[in-house]
Amino acid sequence: MAILTRRNLLKASAVAGAYGAGMVLAPRLSALAAGDPALLDARIAEAMLDGKGKTRNVMTYATGPIGADPMPPVLRTRRGEKFATRFVNHLDEPTTVHWHGLRIDNAMDGVPFVTQPYVYPGDSFDYAFTPPDAGTFWYHPHCNTLTQIGRGLAGMLIVEDPKDPVFDAEIALNLRDWRLGGDSQFIEQFKARDAAKSGTFGTVRTANWQPSPTYDMPSGGLVRVRILVADVTRLYNLKLAGAEALIVAIDGQPVPVTMPLDVAVVSPGQRLDLVVRMPDSEGVVVALEDIRPSTPKTVASFRSVGASLRRSLGDVPPLAANPAAEPDLANATPIPLVLSATAEEAAKDSICGSLGYSFWAINKVPYPGDTPDPMAPLAEMKLGRTYLLNVENVTPHAHPIHIHGVNFKVVSSSTRKVMPLVSDTYLILPDEKVQLAVVADNPGDWVFHCHIIEHQKTGMTGYVRIV
Ligand code: C2O
Ligand code: CU
Repeated sequence: MAILTRRNLLKASAVAGAYGAGMVLAPRLSALAAGDPALLDARIAEAMLDGKGKTRNVMTYATGPIGADPMPPVLRTRRGEKFATRFVNHLDEPTTVHWHGLRIDNAMDGVPFVTQPYVYPGDSFDYAFTPPDAGTFWYHPHCNTLTQIGRGLAGMLIVEDPKDPVFDAEIALNLRDWRLGGDSQFIEQFKARDAAKSGTFGTVRTANWQPSPTYDMPSGGLVRVRILVADVTRLYNLKLAGAEALIVAIDGQPVPVTMPLDVAVVSPGQRLDLVVRMPDSEGVVVALEDIRPSTPKTVASFRSVGASLRRSLGDVPPLAANPAAEPDLANATPIPLVLSATAEEAAKDSICGSLGYSFWAINKVPYPGDTPDPMAPLAEMKLGRTYLLNVENVTPHAHPIHIHGVNFKVVSSSTRKVMPLVSDTYLILPDEKVQLAVVADNPGDWVFHCHIIEHQKTGMTGYVRIV
């Protein structure tokens, strides 16, 4: 049975102590017969995002009535346990739900026409899967994605491991911007000239749908901070001011050895799990900052409360690794994947929202959009074999390139030293070539795209087929 919890419970318990199974809040099941999966829906709401006025026509996910906090709930489940939800579309346009970073059955992957039909307004779709990996993941639509994520549809999904170390507190941070005008209402979601470069930035920056919130945390305690960059465009250079922290996981996957946080670059779609050691004195404010912009921004803050727990970062054990097949590099088949710009042309109309342009391509082919008759796969892979994705960025912009359904292991880069991390997203810099090893262990058609959503929606998308 899925465990769905409300994020306000997460906030309330952040100081009270570590999460336990006893603290989960059951989803509202009153309208469902026993045995039916828990409900999750997409709906239109209002939200206070800029601290000035209510924004109308926000899109959000909910598991019950929306209270004071309309942000999509942080869903929680366990590794190896079945997660099931009946998704209901209360928007006035089609949508789907994609479970980003989860290696699950292709039929549950939520990509219109590639893995499932649209979920039309008023319709529902039952998603059920058993996550093989524990970690910090997320869920978002894969239809009219720039508008739907841009207006709010992006929630965090935490897969717990029963053997996870217990920390003194835990917090999940959903980082993103909004394109709002001075009247707090949505403005045009993108500018074509920016979509052809690094993407269109938001005007209001938030963490958990609030401008720079502050959370109370136990003095001298160890706090697990799960960070998601859900923004459609923005890369973050995250730094902590006022406390020490360790990186314990990247993109949901535990790092083989924990490392001190200096500055971490986190791009759209990526996650970063930190363990922060709070200061011993009460009332000290620790700031999580984004130092990428010329004027650094405080993303969120933590304030120490209570008598010091006197913990030490030296006590943080590495998280248990997730199961992963070891790539057979000696027998790997190379697959060239060139990320480029393309001659500007109008894109096909799609019920999943076309931006009306194509600016980008993979192997010279701009993706035609969500159509019942998409192009051929970028590559066909044989089940069980190892492939080396030789991804080359011949554009002057960085692209957080993301694959569904499988993870890759970073093997080498032409321009920098890389760690052999297992991940689902790699930020490829201008003029970089990277080798990503994939064990083709999950059959199906899996999309491969840039997670700067304007790039994804204007051509930088394709898919691989595992048979
Ligand atoms: Cu975050 Cu195609 O996904
Ligand atoms: Cu891109």
